[in-house]
Amino acid sequence: MQLQLSTWPEVERYLGTSTGIVMPIGSTEQHGPNGLVGTDAICPEVIARGLGEATGAMVAPTIHVGVAQHHLGFAGSMCLRPSTLIQVVRDCVVSLARHGFDRFFFLNGHGGNIATIEAAFAEIHSEVSMLTRQARRPLRCKSANWWDSRGVSGIGKALYGADEGSHATCSEVSVTQYACPDHIKSANFEGRAPAYSGIHDADDYRRRYPDGRIGSLPSLSTPEAGKRLVEASVRDLAETYRAFLNAD
Ligand code: NI
Repeated sequence: MQLQLSTWPEVERYLGTSTGIVMPIGSTEQHGPNGLVGTDAICPEVIARGLGEATGAMVAPTIHVGVAQHHLGFAGSMCLRPSTLIQVVRDCVVSLARHGFDRFFFLNGHGGNIATIEAAFAEIHSEVSMLTRQARRPLRCKSANWWDSRGVSGIGKALYGADEGSHATCSEVSVTQYACPDHIKSANFEGRAPAYSGIHDADDYRRRYPDGRIGSLPSLSTPEAGKRLVEASVRDLAETYRAFLNAD
């Protein structure tokens, strides 16, 4: 079930059956010469929808902008400061908690968000802990990255090996090609992308990785691979989500 395509009475009925919700969260940032700027939001969004269908979970609207200061040297990239994203995550959770949701499963599409999502959870738990006893209600938050799945890494290794890379990866570009078949792009790659050698600010990133890719060769991406990756991620994350709902 998608929150945005539900009516409020439908949401109320859902809350009678489950208090869990999937929260896709991503980023809007360059993904190399043939990768969509929305890649890191598109991937968790399509996988979250699949997860909702597989488990019956409610799926919240995607948080599309994340912590991506290091990509600001490329046109179109957008960034929330960590302190802003903490507030965005906190406000989304607290507003849904008012209605009775209490298990928040963040499905993340961007490595640069991980630390900030954890910081937001610490902020939320601090707030709950500091409320008066009468007002306290336990909230459970968990984050999972769509690519942290045995199935996904197995497919990525088998199809792409060392060409998978670590930014604008063959796998993530494949997932967007499957999700957005009308927006498959091609580009001429000038040689192999440099391997990861650290990242500081946006100018430093552009200097180290001139076309935006890190170690990847996403001309190998295909929508067929994207379909397999989405299905594998949904399968593995469905298990993680169900365990989260039943956890203490
Ligand atoms: Ni990405």
